[in-house]
Amino acid sequence: MTRKAAGGRRRRLVAPLLAGLGAGLVATAVLLRRRGEAWVEGPRWYGFVYRTFYLLGLRVWDRGTPAPELVELVEGSSSVPPGRALDIGCGTGTESIYLAEHGWDVTGVDMVPRALAIARRKAATAGVSPRFVQGDVTRLRDFGIGDGYILLLDFGCFHTIPPDQRDAYVEGVSQAAAPGSTFLLFGFRPPRLAPMRAGVTTEEVRERFHDHGWELVSAERKSIDEIEVAGKPADELFELWGYALRRLPV
Ligand SMILES: C[S@@+](CC[C@H](N)C(=O)[O-])C[C@H]1O[C@@H](n2cnc3c(N)ncnc32)[C@H](O)[C@@H]1O
Repeated sequence: MTRKAAGGRRRRLVAPLLAGLGAGLVATAVLLRRRGEAWVEGPRWYGFVYRTFYLLGLRVWDRGTPAPELVELVEGSSSVPPGRALDIGCGTGTESIYLAEHGWDVTGVDMVPRALAIARRKAATAGVSPRFVQGDVTRLRDFGIGDGYILLLDFGCFHTIPPDQRDAYVEGVSQAAAPGSTFLLFGFRPPRLAPMRAGVTTEEVRERFHDHGWELVSAERKSIDEIEVAGKPADELFELWGYALRRLPV
């Protein structure tokens, strides 16, 4: 058997195994949630879920290319000149690296060390050095994230923050944001099935952020057709929405 054929065979064997483990994890989560276990909603639970997904290499959300809305903001006709950017729940750093490549002073925050290790490796390969910080994004001030960020980005983090911690998240990012800054936030509408309570609505974004001095500029349905979950285009399973917010001058 050639090495290429052996590699293909290994992949064919490993992929169903990983998918099975992932399905098991989701099933366990649903079961626990149905039983009303208190810790299912807490950070311990969803932190465990993310860690497990990274451990198994099940980074289904990892598109590997920056969001088109970010590219437009950085390179489009009315692009924003580079400044400080905060990538909240940065994962493997795709957006952080893209911004650093375009002259931005970037800080990426995530709670999973494995995600950050991948992000640092990718950044080194790209020849840029964004600051990657491990921490809980609902406690930004605890690890000296600083302020003066003119661009904030959250692709898929806020929508899995437990509801009772969302105010702490909004408070933290609002303190980090400069007056007039832009926030691009992407999240699912509450899905039918998820291992943790996931989802956010336009009304929630408007209300939670309004209380901290933000104006909701736009709310649009987005496509994530390039991502597949359990063999199906993600668009068939989830409704992704993108929000642009602007921090009002104080
Ligand atoms: C769906 S992934 C998206 C990652 C990345 N933004 C991307 O688009 O590829 C969400 C990320 O948020 C991180 N995350 C979720 N809750 C967090 C928290 N409270 N503190 C820090 N990171 C968190 C997860 O570890 C995960 O890497």
